[in-house]
Amino acid sequence: MRVNGVPWRPIRLAAGGGGVEVIDQRRLPHEFVVVPLATLADAATAIADMWVRGAPLIGATAAAGVALHMDRDPSDAGLGEALATLAATRPTAVNLAWALADMRTRLAPLVPAARAPAAWARAAAVCEEDVAINRAIGEHGVALVAAVAARKAGPVNILTHCNAGWLATVDWGTATAPVYLAHERGIPLHVWVDETRPRNQGAHLTAWELAAAGIPHRLVADNAGGHLMQRGLVDMVIVGTDRTTATGDVCNKIGTYLKALAARDCGVPFYVALPSPSIDWTITDGLGEIPIEERPGREVTHVGGRAADGRLTEVRICPEATEAANPAFDVTPARLVTRLVTERGVCPASAAGLARLFPERAGVP
Ligand code: MRU
Repeated sequence: MRVNGVPWRPIRLAAGGGGVEVIDQRRLPHEFVVVPLATLADAATAIADMWVRGAPLIGATAAAGVALHMDRDPSDAGLGEALATLAATRPTAVNLAWALADMRTRLAPLVPAARAPAAWARAAAVCEEDVAINRAIGEHGVALVAAVAARKAGPVNILTHCNAGWLATVDWGTATAPVYLAHERGIPLHVWVDETRPRNQGAHLTAWELAAAGIPHRLVADNAGGHLMQRGLVDMVIVGTDRTTATGDVCNKIGTYLKALAARDCGVPFYVALPSPSIDWTITDGLGEIPIEERPGREVTHVGGRAADGRLTEVRICPEATEAANPAFDVTPARLVTRLVTERGVCPASAAGLARLFPERAGVP
């Protein structure tokens, strides 16, 4: 996607390896700042402190973090340290575990001297594969948008939660890929952007992306979605996912479940854009088996933004004595999901639906 007309990605690897730079997403939408990642520790901090975030981008950054460390210490111990350090950064998005397992499988059998070039090549491939996956999700998803457009006058109204946009991936986004393609193809649309408390990824990131692309959108408080759906102002919901079980239970940013409940009550289709690295084939019970990240209470007790003098700042919004709980994700049971939109096509949110599209994985833990 473009930033001020210039093609950009939220992570960029130097050709041939050796260098990584990422957009510091903590400063958007107010400042566009690109920072280098030079070490394993940099990559781990960037993921844990959410300079980068979004399941596919977490996976890509982890792969790059392993490559950075292979430049310094390609021994077995060094590989083990890289994998363990990165695995400890964030618990919910399964793309992290997926990327680390992939790197381990490819690098562990190699002699140490061969590991750094192989790691850089694989990290670059992980990035390119993500772009292709998201583009394919877009192609399948845009057909759903076009079908709505064909039977109504006026724009297709799409509601999305959090940021499953290009900033959350290497390009295109997952939930936003159908939106970008629909816009490119002249399908009139309008996006309701949930602000997504506590970190406001919708307000800070999705709104920034859509504004940059010239896509009509409006920001709404998280609590507005049910009301909009009751009034017929939402034609479809499209969200991303951090981890989806082999049976189609969807874990995504906190608040997603409430949108799915409202969508079911109002007869609004609820779609999940699902890249295959976000499928956890080892589990079948989303509520029981997916670790839900608990983040610092400060993200709830404080709100960040730009002050009138231009400074980025935070303000406290509750009494000094009030403590906060901050579960970062929730699980939407498969029964509330209308369809999963994967790179291989659209399927019911069920074991059978996923097995039909990914027969090589069905029943393989
Ligand atoms: O805490 P975040 O910002 O990493 O959470 C991101 C989400 O919940 C996204 O919806 C999800 O990772 C899918 S990104 C394509």
